[in-house]
Amino acid sequence: MNRIDEKDRAGIFDKVIDRRDTNSLKHDGMAERGMPAGVLPFWVADMDFEAPPEAVLAATRAAAHGVYGYSIAGKGYYDAAINWQKTRFGWDVDRDWIITTPGVVFMVASAVRALSEPGDTIMIQNPVYAVFAPVLRANDRKVVSSDLKLVDGRYEIDFDDFEKVMTESGTKIFLLCHPHNPIGRVWTREELKRMGEICIEHGVLVISDEIHEDFVYGDKRHVPFAAADPLFPPITVTCTAPSKTFNLAGLQASNAFVANPELRRKINRALDACDVGLNPIAIAAAEAAYRYGAPWLESLKEYLLGNYAMLRGVLERELPAVRPMELEATYLAWLDCSGLGMTHVDMVGAFAHKAKVWLNDGATFGANGAGFMRMNLACPRSTLNEGILRIVEAFG
Ligand SMILES: Cc1ncc(COP(=O)(O)O)c(C=O)c1O
Repeated sequence: MNRIDEKDRAGIFDKVIDRRDTNSLKHDGMAERGMPAGVLPFWVADMDFEAPPEAVLAATRAAAHGVYGYSIAGKGYYDAAINWQKTRFGWDVDRDWIITTPGVVFMVASAVRALSEPGDTIMIQNPVYAVFAPVLRANDRKVVSSDLKLVDGRYEIDFDDFEKVMTESGTKIFLLCHPHNPIGRVWTREELKRMGEICIEHGVLVISDEIHEDFVYGDKRHVPFAAADPLFPPITVTCTAPSKTFNLAGLQASNAFVANPELRRKINRALDACDVGLNPIAIAAAEAAYRYGAPWLESLKEYLLGNYAMLRGVLERELPAVRPMELEATYLAWLDCSGLGMTHVDMVGAFAHKAKVWLNDGATFGANGAGFMRMNLACPRSTLNEGILRIVEAFG
């Protein structure tokens, strides 16, 4: 795999870009959301880096065209998305399987509406992406969790509990987060197979949110859930996107892979009910990113690992009461802050108002996230360094 060389990489990812006053969810409107002046944001999962140059160029060209009419993703877009799955994960997907939507959450919600009824139960695994539960509830679904268990400092699936919660609740759909945000675990093929087998046994469909598939480190490998076993494609809706991978979240393009024609028909029908499409800038940028962005991504992953190593090293030395969990995947560090000996509410307040850093409150990912904070590492090292120093000073 080609990598951008060391000198250029530092230039790309060390560059501090002022995102204030750009309608940034992460950097703007802080006071309105109760944050003190001067707070440094490490919360919502987008990156403070420019997208790969090829994607920026493609988006710029599309914007410069000046005519922004209705758009349709062409063969080049689909080929690029298919090729990405093949070359990165060895997964063969058909053109027919792909359903594009403006965002993964949009797709998850659409699939839930298409494949279950109001009042039905959807199972998740807390602590998990904080948007899942409210979106499911807003769609009038019941939410149950088979909570992940901390075993010797690592999150594990309790398969007995997984099956018990699923059967007792009459779960219709299992919403998997793979790799798992916020705990940073990559589910192994064995774990995926055990989960999938239980789902098949109880007639449960799987929506696998694989938006973080491209941030997997070291000797860990991402196995798409549907590729873990030949029995899984018929029960699975796989949600992917170039948005986290290449920092294109604001453009809102995502691809679901649905091998089962009957599930596809139902989802397409639900989507027809609101007639959405992708915008021309998103189509151009996503295609270019998937086509040319792999070397940029490899360099980015090295940089992110360097950020994680810095965080871990400084905390171990200066503030051992805050322990980052192992980072197998994602660019989101899950910090065990229970060693601070504070109530959760006091701790969350102290991060914002004493340390003046804006992290995600762990309890928003489920009740078992209390005592934790999530820190987004996708920023220049100098910014991260400032954030870590603030935390050490406030709590040390
Ligand atoms: C697991 C997971 N799914 C979905 C999303 C959001 O996806 P989108 O912006 O495409 O709706 C996020 C964003 O952080 C996420 O972590």
